[in-house]
Amino acid sequence: MYKRQPTPFGIDETQLESVLTSLPAGLNVIGFHLHAVSNNLDGAAQATFLRDAITWSIKTASAYGVNLRVVNAGGGLGVDHTSTTSIDLAPLSRVSVPDGIELILEPGRFLAADAGYYAAEVLDLKTTHGRTFAVLRGGTHHFRLPAAWGYSHPFTILPIDTWDRPYTRPSVTNTPVDAVGELCTPRDVLTRAQPVDRLRVGDLLVFARTGAYAWDISHHDFLRHPAPQFIVL
Ligand SMILES: Cc1ncc(COP(=O)(O)O)c(C=O)c1O
Repeated sequence: MYKRQPTPFGIDETQLESVLTSLPAGLNVIGFHLHAVSNNLDGAAQATFLRDAITWSIKTASAYGVNLRVVNAGGGLGVDHTSTTSIDLAPLSRVSVPDGIELILEPGRFLAADAGYYAAEVLDLKTTHGRTFAVLRGGTHHFRLPAAWGYSHPFTILPIDTWDRPYTRPSVTNTPVDAVGELCTPRDVLTRAQPVDRLRVGDLLVFARTGAYAWDISHHDFLRHPAPQFIVL
C-alpha cells in the first residue's frame, strides 16, 4: 500500500491524461519515471514496489497509447546511517522485467554513503543542566542529514594526543555526549547522548557513511564558517 500525499515533485496521476494528450509535436514518450521511495531498508518491499511500477507502467502505457520501453523506478535503496546495515538487494534480483522493457534504477545514497567520512575537531566540552555537549569545529552546515531527518548519527572518537595549549585540557569520562555544531541554533545537532569512555577537547569525532546527503545538502554559508577540507583517496 502506498501513501498518496501532496508533493511538489512529478505529475499527479489524475493529470496524466491531460499531459499525455497535449504533448508538443515531436515529443515521444517512451516510459515513466517513478521516484517514489526514500531510504528504504526493506528489500522485499522495494521488490514489490518495482513490480508495481512495472505493472502500473504497462497498464498506463496501454491506456494512453505509449510504446513502453523504459520504466525508471528512481532511487530509494536504503542505508541505515546508525549502523552498518543496508537494504538487502537479493529480492530485487528476483523481479522479472518483461522483454522489450528496460528497468532503470537510480541509487544515490546506496552507492555513495559508504564512500565518505566526516571528521570534526572537538572545540569545547560543556555540561549544562546535567547534559554534556561536545561543540565541534563543524556541524550541520557541513553535514545536515541528521538534523534534516531527525536522527542521531553515531561517531567514533579519534584520539589526538598532542596538546600544546597553556591550560589544562578539558575532558569528560564515562558520560553520554551530544555532538553539536558551532552554529547559533540549538538545531545544530549531529548526535544525541552517545556514551563515551573519554573525550577531550582536541580529539576528532569521525562520522561514517557520510558520502551521501552530507555536504551537498547543507547550508554552507550559515555564519560564514569555513568549509571542511576534502580529501579524496
Ligand atoms: C529523481 C531521483 N532519483 C534518484 C534519487 C536518489 O535517491 P536515493 O539516494 O534514495 O537512492 C533522487 C534523490 O532525491 C531523486 O530525486
